[in-house]
Parts: sequence; C-alpha cells; structure tokens
Amino acid sequence: MRIDIITVLPEMLEAPMSTSIIGRTRAKGLLDLHIHNLRDYSTDKWKRVDDYPFGGEAGMVLQIEPIERAINALKAQRHYDEVIFTSPDGKTFDQPMANEMSLLENIIILCGHYKGIDYRVREHLITREISIGDYVLTGGELAAAVMTDAIARLLPGAIGDAESALSDTFQDNLLAPPIYTRPADYKGWRVPDVLLSGHAAKIEQWKMEQALERTERLRPDLLHK
Ligand code: ADE
Repeated sequence: MRIDIITVLPEMLEAPMSTSIIGRTRAKGLLDLHIHNLRDYSTDKWKRVDDYPFGGEAGMVLQIEPIERAINALKAQRHYDEVIFTSPDGKTFDQPMANEMSLLENIIILCGHYKGIDYRVREHLITREISIGDYVLTGGELAAAVMTDAIARLLPGAIGDAESALSDTFQDNLLAPPIYTRPADYKGWRVPDVLLSGHAAKIEQWKMEQALERTERLRPDLLHK
C-alpha cells in the first residue's frame, strides 16, 4: 500500500513514521510512505504557502494553489482511492475505518490547519474528512501519524503473528483480555491460575469471559454497536 502525506511540517512526521513497527513495515516494502513538504509546491520566491484571510479574521490561511499542485503532481503518476483531509469536522476514525483503509492501494492524506485552510480545498480537492477525536489539534500531522500507524500495522506481514491484529481490542467490538508474562508470582501478585493450567479450551473461555467483563465495565457502548 502507498500513502502520500502532504504537510507543511514534514519533520513532525518523519521520526514517528520511521521508528519501530512502522519503520520496519516500510523497510519490508509493505508500506510505501512518502512525506511531501507543501512548500516544495509553492511558486513563491520565499516558498510561502499561506496568506491573509478574506473578511478580516486573525491568522493565516493555507492557499489552494500549492495544495492543488501537490495533489495533481501525485495524481498524474497513479490513481488514488482517497484524498483525505484531517479535520475535527470529519467522521471519527475507528478500527473498522482503519481496516477498510488498509485494503486500499493508494491514498493521499492532506494535513490541514483546521480553520486555516482555504475552504475550496475541502469543497473541491478532497474525497473525505477524517477526525481522530472530538478535540482540536494544532494541525493534522499527528492525526495523519495516528491513521497511518493504525493502517500500517494491519498490512499483511507487518506484525509477526498474523492473528494478532485480528485479536486486537476493537476488532470484534470487545476489549482485549488481560495478558501476563513471567514471573507468575510477583510480590504475591499472581497471574490467574487458569493461564498456567495448560488447558487450551479453558484458557480460551477465560479470555472470552474477561473480554466481555472488561468491555461491559469499561466500554459498554461497544457492546451495543
Ligand atoms: N486537526 C485538528 N484537530 C484534529 C482532529 N481532532 N482530528 C484530525 N485532524 C485534526
């Protein structure tokens, strides 16, 4: 899968998108991620990509021109399934959306500055707006990183155990059951006996009961989805 991220702050994305599982997923060639500096698409002598707003509001506004130029340069090379704009106005990102997006071939994520982007970009150049939650970030870069992370780990081969992404919290609207490692007894805090029993069917049943109990207690809203 290929993801192209367009941003005015590439340095905000480079480290998180090169580290740990995401870095390895890229190194293995499973995720072809490209981070583009919007300023590279400016025709201005000073590489400016924003200007003052019409109507006398405070702050600067990202201009449509360099954004359209960046998107068109990418679209000239391949078909894109989605051009996503990160915005708190969008549909809230969740696991089903991550699953669905992980099946796409090519996507563009445009990192915005929520109020500070020419509205015509949102009207004419993008296919959907996605939010990562009901709060306002300074820009869309962290939202793009969150989405890319959640998508990348679902790509086949990204994480060792093929089943582990499927058994994640949220994949079946259940929180994951508790998990433990050695020592079995730490200062009297003991791992549940059933996990040490070696009885596979009982362990599975215990995990399901725990998943249901934790979901009921912590996220009852998931059970009624
Ligand atoms: N940009 C600013 N806030 C955001 C949010 N909550 N989700 C996605 N993009 C954003």
